[in-house]
Amino acid sequence: MDKFVIKGGRRLTGEVTISGAKNAAVGILPAVILSDEPCIIENVPTISDVNICIRILREMGADITFLGNDTYRIDPTGIRSHCVPYETARKMRASYYFLGALLGKYKKARVSMPGGCPLGARPIDQHLKAFCSLGAKYTLSQGMIDLTADKLTGNQIFFDVVTVGATMNAMLAATKAEGLTIIENAAKEPHIVDLANFLNSMGANIMGAGTDVIKIRGVQKLHGTTYSVIPDQIEAGTFMAAVAATKGDVVIRNVIPKHLESITKKMEKIGVHIEQFDDSIHVWVDGPLVKANIKTAPHPGFPTDMQSQIATLLTLAEGTSIITENIWEQRFGYVDELRRMGADITVNGKIALIEGTGRLMGAPVKACDLRAGAALIIAGLAAAGITEIEDIFHIERGYDCMEGKLRALGADIEKVSIPDNKDSSKNSSDKAAV
Ligand code: EPU
Repeated sequence: MDKFVIKGGRRLTGEVTISGAKNAAVGILPAVILSDEPCIIENVPTISDVNICIRILREMGADITFLGNDTYRIDPTGIRSHCVPYETARKMRASYYFLGALLGKYKKARVSMPGGCPLGARPIDQHLKAFCSLGAKYTLSQGMIDLTADKLTGNQIFFDVVTVGATMNAMLAATKAEGLTIIENAAKEPHIVDLANFLNSMGANIMGAGTDVIKIRGVQKLHGTTYSVIPDQIEAGTFMAAVAATKGDVVIRNVIPKHLESITKKMEKIGVHIEQFDDSIHVWVDGPLVKANIKTAPHPGFPTDMQSQIATLLTLAEGTSIITENIWEQRFGYVDELRRMGADITVNGKIALIEGTGRLMGAPVKACDLRAGAALIIAGLAAAGITEIEDIFHIERGYDCMEGKLRALGADIEKVSIPDNKDSSKNSSDKAAV
């Protein structure tokens, strides 16, 4: 297993290019199943969640060629299996998108039931509600979900909570259903719009993605397409926080500034300068950082996936900041690790109180999930001394060559192998993912 070793205290400067969005790619890759012809998908990030998606598709019979330059050619016409077994599904939470894609195409799917995860309970009741509204039946047995339908018929689906996963799954299943599906209280994240754009580029008829009502008129066939995944807003936000934490000066390329609005607004309040261009932003800090209050919310609110990174930044700011986590029950797992680095944070339920101490000290720490790992990297970059981060497989699920990109900006960060007998997290890459 590997760990990151960071010698903190170096300003980040220069230019960095953001990769394709994880949460869009893990929906778009299964969506290729719906096509009757090969597709070419560009700007696919090199992360372990994508590797797992590709492995699942291959195991089902898809013919996949990596064309270089973050691009895959995927021919789904050889798919014969409709099953995603436990051993593969448990490594990637988003394997639930295979339910919607397989159901939409073959009217049957067998996918392992996702378990709990470090963020707390992750129910899929809304996914199942959507499939049933379209005419599917499901059974749960031996940890597997079996979905079948004689045919799928468009219907009205009202989500009880705003959910990214269920919205995308409903879109996948409804794309080839007969008639009109109307999804109400839909999630509005950029990756919802990206999935809709991808499906439409194959001949689907989806309107309203990005608003809370999405209308899908079912089509019988979908054709091949060439499509480029949107840039990752959370990777961009993570670099913004890292630049700010090191009082750096960096141009971040391959971003959609509109997707970063809620992050940009908060960062500016904290004292970070941000200049926006068409597809890049310039981020720098030349003065003190100040406190801010942040409440996570579905898009266009402040994303929960940026909560831990901005909290780390606020430990370096003047004053008391309050963070309210409204999406996940357990997303303060990184707090104990930050405390080891000198942060003063008190958590009470979904609220974290951060007393900005202005400085952090290096320490050995462990990533407990993907964004917690990103937060610890930011802390390590800003801290005095050496920080060693274990369990970095969490980070590699969702960040494309994080250490290489940071090194190019001047960070002193190395990936180091931990000898097996000292490896407290043996087989950890096999653990269930968030
Ligand atoms: N929920 C239900 N029932 C459901 C589905 C969701 O009650 O059937 C609840 C959840 O418990 C949660 C809320 O609805 O409280 C929102 O969950 P959502 O379905 O939106 O989350 P998700 O689709 O499982 C995606 C991202 C997460 C991100 C959330 C929120 C992917 C693969 N994952 O999860 O990303 O935090 O949306 O934006 O797209 C990450 O990238 O680090 C990450 C965890």
